[in-house]
This record gives sequence, structure tokens and C-alpha cells, in this order.
Amino acid sequence: MSTVTAVSPDGAAQLAIIGGTGFGELAGLVDMQAEIVVTPWGDAYIERGTLAGVPLLFLPRHGHPPRYPPHMINYRANIAALAQLGIERILAITAVGSVDPRLPPAAVVMPDQLIDYTWGRAQTFHDAEIQHIDFTYPYTESLRQALLGAVAGLRARGELLSFYPRGVYGCTQGPRLETAAEIARMARDGCSIVGMTAMPEAGLAREKGLAYAGLSVVVNAGAGINDQAVDLAAISAVMARGMASVRQILMALMLASAAQEGSVTGPA
Ligand code: HPA
Repeated sequence: MSTVTAVSPDGAAQLAIIGGTGFGELAGLVDMQAEIVVTPWGDAYIERGTLAGVPLLFLPRHGHPPRYPPHMINYRANIAALAQLGIERILAITAVGSVDPRLPPAAVVMPDQLIDYTWGRAQTFHDAEIQHIDFTYPYTESLRQALLGAVAGLRARGELLSFYPRGVYGCTQGPRLETAAEIARMARDGCSIVGMTAMPEAGLAREKGLAYAGLSVVVNAGAGINDQAVDLAAISAVMARGMASVRQILMALMLASAAQEGSVTGPA
């Protein structure tokens, strides 16, 4: 099984979780210490702690308390802060709507591609020089494989049912939800899920050379997929169910990482 090393030789965290709607705090984070990180792009709020004994950083994307809507998040400050702190891998958690009607509520999707429909966001750290990053595969395969390993372990124990290992994340500008025609167009484009926060976050992580993978919880059917209006305030039960699955995967990832660390640094 592919695992992910989460601790650097000096014991600092290498893995950061970016939490979104429904995942504004990381329950179970032990010895939590909150910190404001100052970056050239602005400040970011982070929490340090350990999960299953593994050092971890948690960054609530919408702020603490949550107050920045998707188009107002300072993505550059968030990613720059994690890079400054020596983080090498980011697991980004998002709540999304379905574009593929086969995706059930509370499904967890690990996207392997994305399409960026946002506009007017600060997209890059390189406004003053010519730099083009390769972004053919926006999600980092090694981290995806580590997550797949964690999911396989859970499934073998019958603990996790609704997981989709691939998907195309369509990132819209928001904050309004989409029209039915926009969701139909996204389906024609090949999107499977729709959210508002994967970009520019994923692109900025790539610019900093950080591994980046996502777990997206389907909290509603996209506009026009069924005959119901989309009401994100009314989805808390589905959200809680899906985010509980995300927590399971995260815990399994940490335990795998702890086991790997133990085999490297523990007594013979
Ligand atoms: N559209 C965009 N973003 C979302 C949705 C949606 O339907 N659900 C959760 N985030």
C-alpha cells in the first residue's frame, strides 16, 4: 500500500488539511495550538496539533470563525502560509454539488481533474514575472494513491461504502449557485461535481511545488438535476454523514503514516 510520510526529520508536520464548509474544525486534533501566519500575501489562520500521534496542520479555508465566501478567500495567503511552514502535502476537503446524477448524497469523491470556471480571483504568485506551471494533472497522484490505500483498508473492514476514486471538479465563481443550464453545460464539459473553492487553491499549491489532493463530499444535487431548489442551509444531515466518511479516511491515512514512521524510527 502506498503511504504518505507526514513527519519531517525534525518532527514538524508535512501534511496539512484544508477544511471547507462542514469541516471548519478538525475534531480530535490533540495539543491544538492556533496561530496567525504572516505572509507577503496576507495573514492565514492555522492550527497545529497531532492526529493519531502524527503532527498535522489544519487550515480552515473560510477563516476562523468562518467568514470569507469562496470568492473572497485569500488563497494566496493560505497556500503561502503552508509553504512557509514547510508543509509538503495538502489534503483539501470540500463540499460540492453533483453534476453527474449517479452520485448519491454524502458520496465522497476524490477528483483527478478539474475545470476552472472562476474569474477575477488572484490566480498566481507570479504577477511580476513570466512563469507557466505544468497543470496537466492538477491533483498529485502519489497523495491520491495514499488516500486510495486508506480507503481500501476501510472498505476491507466494511467501514466505508460511498467513495468514488475519480471525478472532474468544476469550480464556479459563486457565491450564487448555478443555473440549470450551467449545470447541464458542465455535464457536457465532463464535470462530475461542482464546487467553488478548488481554484485557485490547487494551482497555487502547484506553483509552490506542494502535493495536493482533494476529498469532496456531495451535499446536494446540482441545479436542475432534480425538481428541488438547491438549499445549502438544509443539507446538514447529508453534510454530517459525508464529512464523517472524510474523517474516517483521514484517520486511516494518519494511522498508516504513523505505522510507517514507527517502522522507520521505532525500536528494531
Ligand atoms: N454548486 C456550487 N458549489 C456547491 C454546491 C453547488 O451545488 N454545493 C456545495 N457547494
